[in-house]
Amino acid sequence: MLETTGIDATKSGTQEVLRVDGASVRYGAATILDGVDLTLNRGEFVCVIGPSGSGKTTFLRLLAGLVAPAEGRVLFRGAEHRAPSREIAIVFQDYANALLPWRDAEGNVSLALEAAGVPRAERAGRIRALLSKVGLAGSEKKFPSEMSGGMQQRLQIARCLAQEPDVLLMDEPFGALDAMTRQKLQDELLGIVRDSNVTAFFVTHDLEEAIYLSDRIVALEPDPGQVCRVFDVTLPKPRNQLSTREMPEFLRLRRELFDFIERFEP
Ligand SMILES: Nc1ncnc2c1ncn2[C@@H]1O[C@H](COP(=O)(O)OP(=O)(O)O)[C@@H](O)[C@H]1O
Ligand SMILES: [Mg+2]
Repeated sequence: MLETTGIDATKSGTQEVLRVDGASVRYGAATILDGVDLTLNRGEFVCVIGPSGSGKTTFLRLLAGLVAPAEGRVLFRGAEHRAPSREIAIVFQDYANALLPWRDAEGNVSLALEAAGVPRAERAGRIRALLSKVGLAGSEKKFPSEMSGGMQQRLQIARCLAQEPDVLLMDEPFGALDAMTRQKLQDELLGIVRDSNVTAFFVTHDLEEAIYLSDRIVALEPDPGQVCRVFDVTLPKPRNQLSTREMPEFLRLRRELFDFIERFEP
């Protein structure tokens, strides 16, 4: 096991934000994650793939501080992390349940600012900037029920960004969206992560989505879940929905990930 000496700033300028050291998660007698190791660095985009039931959501909950490891540790900025924190925001797939239906877009973003103790006078400006950042300028007064799925997911992302998190954890956030909306949100998310230098941990079962977004892809092997391979994605940035997906490197990774997943399909 590695020794931890607080925040790790290496000569390449990478800075450790979250680190999982030999962590195991059990639900009752069942081991769901077994001896998982992973370090997430500042500004990095890491996707997690793995067959259904391999423990992707459990991994995210572990990083969020929502579930405690039975063995090993989770370190956030060098200190053991045991409870949810505002600096680690979670975007859920189920945006409809993540938003308050009786608050309009502004009100939903305001919630995070209120929770963070941002004074009322500052809120309006911050809310406008956040909604504009996620492409919702002009929709400030709309209620979730008046928004498309893509808009609701944008709103959930805005609310998470209002927390000014260091880490954005996302559990299949675009899984319920149509293909075009999904691609648009992928590009917007990449822009947001680049501009805010937040660390993104993104669960998906869409292999192409993982390649398109990632700097690194973590592949979870099921029964019990463990990180069994990490794929580096060196595709140039900014990514482009047409040209990136046609690059030989993209196609090579697609094949490699496909072969990986296929081993576990029944
Ligand atoms: N709260 C829980 N209690 C008991 N078992 C759970 C709980 N949450 C998940 N599991 C089990 O853990 C395994 C991994 O689940 P999950 O992390 O949701 O996988 P994935 O997101 O990769 O589909 C599954 O077998 C699931 O049934
Ligand atoms: Mg899941």
